Amino acid sequence: CGIIGYSGHREACGILLDGLERLEYRGYDSAGILVSDNGTFHTVKRSGRLSNLRAAVERHPLKGCCGMGHTRWATHGGPTDENAHPHGTERVMLVHNGIIENYLELRGLLTEQGYSFLSQTDTEVAACYLDYCYHGDPIDAIREALNKIEGAYAFVIMFSDHPDTIYAIRKDGPLLAALGDGENFVASDITAVISYTNRYFVLDEGEIAVVTPRRIRILGMDGKPREKAVQTVTWDIEQAQKDGYEHFMLKEIHEQPDALRHTISPRVKNGLPDWSGDGLPKDFFSRFERIQIVACGTAMHAGMIGKTIIEKLARIPVEVDIASEFRYRDPILTGNTLVIIVSQSGETADSLAALRLAKQMELSTLAIVNVAGSSIAREAEHVLYTFAGPEISVASTKAYSVQISLLYLIAFTLGQEKGLLSEEQVRVLTRQLFASAEAVRGALRLQERIEMSAKSLAGAEHLFFLGRGLDYALACEGSLKLKEVSYVHCEAYAAGELKHGTISLITEGVPVIALCTQTALLPKMLSNIKETTARGAKVFVIAKQGETISQDVADTVLLLDDFDDLFMPFPAVTVLQLIAYFTARQRGCDIDKPRNLAKSVTVE
Ligand code: G6P
Repeated sequence: CGIIGYSGHREACGILLDGLERLEYRGYDSAGILVSDNGTFHTVKRSGRLSNLRAAVERHPLKGCCGMGHTRWATHGGPTDENAHPHGTERVMLVHNGIIENYLELRGLLTEQGYSFLSQTDTEVAACYLDYCYHGDPIDAIREALNKIEGAYAFVIMFSDHPDTIYAIRKDGPLLAALGDGENFVASDITAVISYTNRYFVLDEGEIAVVTPRRIRILGMDGKPREKAVQTVTWDIEQAQKDGYEHFMLKEIHEQPDALRHTISPRVKNGLPDWSGDGLPKDFFSRFERIQIVACGTAMHAGMIGKTIIEKLARIPVEVDIASEFRYRDPILTGNTLVIIVSQSGETADSLAALRLAKQMELSTLAIVNVAGSSIAREAEHVLYTFAGPEISVASTKAYSVQISLLYLIAFTLGQEKGLLSEEQVRVLTRQLFASAEAVRGALRLQERIEMSAKSLAGAEHLFFLGRGLDYALACEGSLKLKEVSYVHCEAYAAGELKHGTISLITEGVPVIALCTQTALLPKMLSNIKETTARGAKVFVIAKQGETISQDVADTVLLLDDFDDLFMPFPAVTVLQLIAYFTARQRGCDIDKPRNLAKSVTVE
């Protein structure tokens, strides 16, 4: 989500709207602004693009020189007018970027205190909790509330009895306070306010910025003032939107650990999977005897991982189909099949048509979707949102990781409900799933080495990705990623299948990227790799720390931290994404917008 706040001598409304426009890349399913007219709050909120909000505000301009705005990327609660920010009470209003993990608990507590809620959001719960803690001193209230609020957040807060002051605080979500002349700002990033100032403070975790037209005070959580160095913008607007990364693709690859945490933690209670926050009935999964996953592109590859994990842990058959094939193959599906549609955008025409077909066949449907309120999310019987935040790069990266994380959690749930996994085993698996975020961080630390290795891949005319089991599913995704962004022709092959034809294409110097993350399959993989080295292939191995890969097998060996085989797709896909990214960069490709591709394909 994107946040802006203003306190100064000019009318706030136009400044807030212009700032939100620059922040729209952070979320664009609804937006809202609040302006304080000497302590009377006036709020306008609209679902849909920012232009809807602008049109509404132009009809009824808001008067006042202090206010805040928000452009939303829905997490809890669909993208409606009511769910748009700001939220709160007559006394306290706020905008929020992030996820409040214990909002159900807080909501219960507040309901007992007589609070009622107008929206389905976790943000409104946080706002009301702050109101509950407010007894006249904003800083005390913020400190008390944040003691209790768990999760990731950046908040901008206004109190009606402090009409020209905005309070800003962050944990995880980005936020800065910017210094103007007789006016000051807060914003998610400097792009929002760059036309007014280039001087700002970056807020650290646990710091509170108190912003008035005259000054910005930074306080610690102990309420004591902090000295902060003023920074000056050296980036241009585009770079700032990318948080300093050269491309959205690289930024989004790096966002994976956070995206994973945001997606997994709301579905885990007391160490076990819990889908109550998603509105799934209790024991929802146990009634199904088969699963049919349908998706396109990267989302379909996520489905392939899901199939392996679900079949392994829950021993129920899972089929994965490309959406455009599923529709026309006259699938044989019985009443106790669950159809899972996986889609980042929620708008892919073939996936949507597959969903409609499944509904026509009167099957239960569950969508795994990143964009709240999208067509697939609206039409599916049940929806699980991935909380990856907006994915801007056409090539999908973080969406894949969060999609598979939910398929893992479904597998654990099914395994337990079918009596194949004990509660204790599920606890251990769930802990490992959380640890996958850390494993991704480990993979990101290999970035420099991958960048070096990509130099030797950039000149290739074609290359191969090989793997067995989960590594084969990963090979498919690695190969798609490389083709999409670097335009190098490549193929993913099940390592054991290569010799049945395609090995004829292996000649002197052809690169082979061999995924060896599955310890149980390693000896077989090594034989397959040798078959390629014997024919001159230049082999690049991705394996786990502790495995012995001798020099005569591979030219380059990239070792990932040791982790259970089952969870290796998380760090391994990160490596594959980085390989695709750096190869494309080396070749000077238009990485975020590859030729001929679209982010959301709404034609069949
Ligand atoms: C397009 C994109 C792919 C994406 C696929 C499915 O082809 O270029 O990156 O994987 O659509 O998109 P979805 O939004 O349904 O996940």
